[in-house]
Amino acid sequence: MTRAVRFDQYGDVDVLRVEEVERPTPAGDQVLVEVVAAGINPGEISIRTGAYQDIWPATFPSGQGSDFAGRVLEVGTSVTEFAVGDEVLGWSDWRSSQAEHVVVPADHLTRKPLALDWARAGALFVAGVTAYASVRAVQPARGETVVVSGAAGGVGGLTAQLARNAGAHVIGVASEENATWLRSIGVTPVTYGDGLADRLRKAAPSHIDAFMDTHGGGYVDLALELEVDPARVNTIIDYAAAEKAGVKTEGSSTASDAEILGFLAGELAWGRLVLPVAAIYPLDAVRDAYTELAAGHTRGKIVLATELPANAGRQPAS
Ligand SMILES: NC(=O)c1ccc[n+]([C@@H]2O[C@H](COP(=O)([O-])OP(=O)(O)OC[C@H]3O[C@@H](n4cnc5c(N)ncnc54)[C@H](OP(=O)(O)O)[C@@H]3O)[C@@H](O)[C@H]2O)c1
Repeated sequence: MTRAVRFDQYGDVDVLRVEEVERPTPAGDQVLVEVVAAGINPGEISIRTGAYQDIWPATFPSGQGSDFAGRVLEVGTSVTEFAVGDEVLGWSDWRSSQAEHVVVPADHLTRKPLALDWARAGALFVAGVTAYASVRAVQPARGETVVVSGAAGGVGGLTAQLARNAGAHVIGVASEENATWLRSIGVTPVTYGDGLADRLRKAAPSHIDAFMDTHGGGYVDLALELEVDPARVNTIIDYAAAEKAGVKTEGSSTASDAEILGFLAGELAWGRLVLPVAAIYPLDAVRDAYTELAAGHTRGKIVLATELPANAGRQPAS
């Protein structure tokens, strides 16, 4: 037996629980991983509350979670790339990573670099590949000026840094509280709220070449108002605005690839990307973790850790 997050009906955090379930067994091309850390993502809130039930319905009882990092415990008969004891990070397509054990196909894993800690490794997949897809969609070039909305979030922070690493001047839209952090990663902070369009025009006096929206709620329209070429606007959340405006909607599904995940893990290990971990919660505190995430002001990621005792509570992280 093992323990895993489950919910039996749509609802608020109270429907979440951690319960004893059968330990999964890997089929021929699969790997059983003992999970150490599993990141949490806003999309999981929308699935759990039923907000996404028309597009991504839940089947009950439902597990939860895509992101994870851990140690290989068992490999299927046809798996040659991984062996028992390997430290890996990866993703589940079956809403099952928030658990002590997870089974995934071997091609959903990459090796964890030694210099990458468990929390960041376990939080990387969704935010990392979504950021990668956002940047790839608009192709920032050296010397260009680009804007990232939601620049302090899990996806936005990585998006801003990938664009910076491509040589672009990056303007990051966030609250005043995140201005110092954005400057520390080489991003020009601009505060959201009334007058944002004028502040962006001032921060980019010549032209904004591309806009990557990772927050939604009007940023696609703002990009068009600022005369950004629609072919170089991407949103990962505002699909209605994207359809109306004909802008791109590249997200995690277009970059869910172990090679891309491996590249991002390497960039984090070598310090070419940073990913703040706002808090680490024991698996048993899954409700508290999602309550904090739902407040909408996380810098970086929130992570569930299986190796923390249930009573450890919230662990502030860096
Ligand atoms: N399409 C896909 O494949 C895909 C994949 C992943 C995520 N998503 C979606 O993308 C969105 C972001 O995900 P995430 O994981 O990055 O979320 P997150 O980490 O929870 O984002 C939190 C960030 O949002 C910022 N924020 C709050 N209000 C804002 C505003 N009015 N303008 C700009 N930034 C604001 C906060 O900054 P302050 O603290 O400074 O306010 C905070 O840093 C979510 O809606 C998620 O569902 C889509």
